[in-house]
Amino acid sequence: MMFDPVHSRVRMNLMIWTKGSGGRVMEQFQRPGKMLEWSRRKRCEGDSIALVPTMGALHEGHLSLVDLAAERADCVATSIFVNPTQFGPSEDFSEYPRDLQSDLNVLSDRNVDAVFLPETGDIYPAGSSTWVTEEELSNRLEGISRPGHFRGVTTVVAKLLTIVEPDILVVGQKDAQQAAVIKRIMQDLIYPVELITGKTVRELDGLALSSRNNFLSVEERQQAVSLYESLMLAREMASGGERNCRIIVSAMRQRIEKEPSARIDYIAVVDPDTFDDMEEISASSLISLAVFVGDTRLIDNELIDGGN
Ligand code: PAJ
Repeated sequence: MMFDPVHSRVRMNLMIWTKGSGGRVMEQFQRPGKMLEWSRRKRCEGDSIALVPTMGALHEGHLSLVDLAAERADCVATSIFVNPTQFGPSEDFSEYPRDLQSDLNVLSDRNVDAVFLPETGDIYPAGSSTWVTEEELSNRLEGISRPGHFRGVTTVVAKLLTIVEPDILVVGQKDAQQAAVIKRIMQDLIYPVELITGKTVRELDGLALSSRNNFLSVEERQQAVSLYESLMLAREMASGGERNCRIIVSAMRQRIEKEPSARIDYIAVVDPDTFDDMEEISASSLISLAVFVGDTRLIDNELIDGGN
């Protein structure tokens, strides 16, 4: 039988490496202890480390975070782990796209130094009963629609920070509430780690890149652009002087409801730090929305800074 380093679980006690097109070696680890050893060795050599956590099915949005990480630190570590605890019982955990070989290829071409590929049991040892919960921001918007979601995210991110000990953690503004919740746990748990947020990468028509876009049919893909268009409409209204959030949200609603396959979960204008609802657009407002297009739930947001 041929040894397949990607799919074989045997690989995991070994250290595997791949050479990217840039000629750099990308090391792969499954065991938390091995990952941490690498990280500490790099630190001893005087290198700083940036971690980009992902659930794989990588696209240019993820890769823009890898590039940002490489600009800000000497070494880049990425994790690929489809974290079961952040999916609700009726959500798409089993259908979530997985393509490890293609992910490893793109990461090695992007000059990533280390990839952490844990199995569920490495992150959640049998009998695990410890959780990290943030109890304020996590109870708004996504937290209402997806109970338990942020508990899964904060628990896995806290574990990744323990396992990789990065200097910098890089996350995307695409998941603005997730970024805010992670920032909060990092502050509250006094992690000596800097959080950097990368801009949302979009398709040419404005649809935010997402691993879940793969689930859209051709018609749904066309209709999905309504999320971005409604955000642009909100931005235009705000820069034209409209301050009333209810009027803005109602216009966004009308735009999205033109699409037969779209069903709005929520549209909200919130304070980007507290996620409290806002009645009036002010110096800094986050317009955030979640919309089902067919069966696929998409999220997006737009930060309106300086009221414009
Ligand atoms: P995942 O959905 O794979 O996203 C990994 C990172 O990529 C997140 O920080 C997310 O905000 C960012 N991202 C996704 N789409 C993006 C886009 N179009 N432009 C820029 N960045 C984008 O988010 C998760 O995984 C998980 O919850 C995780 C943090 C890994 C914890 O399991």
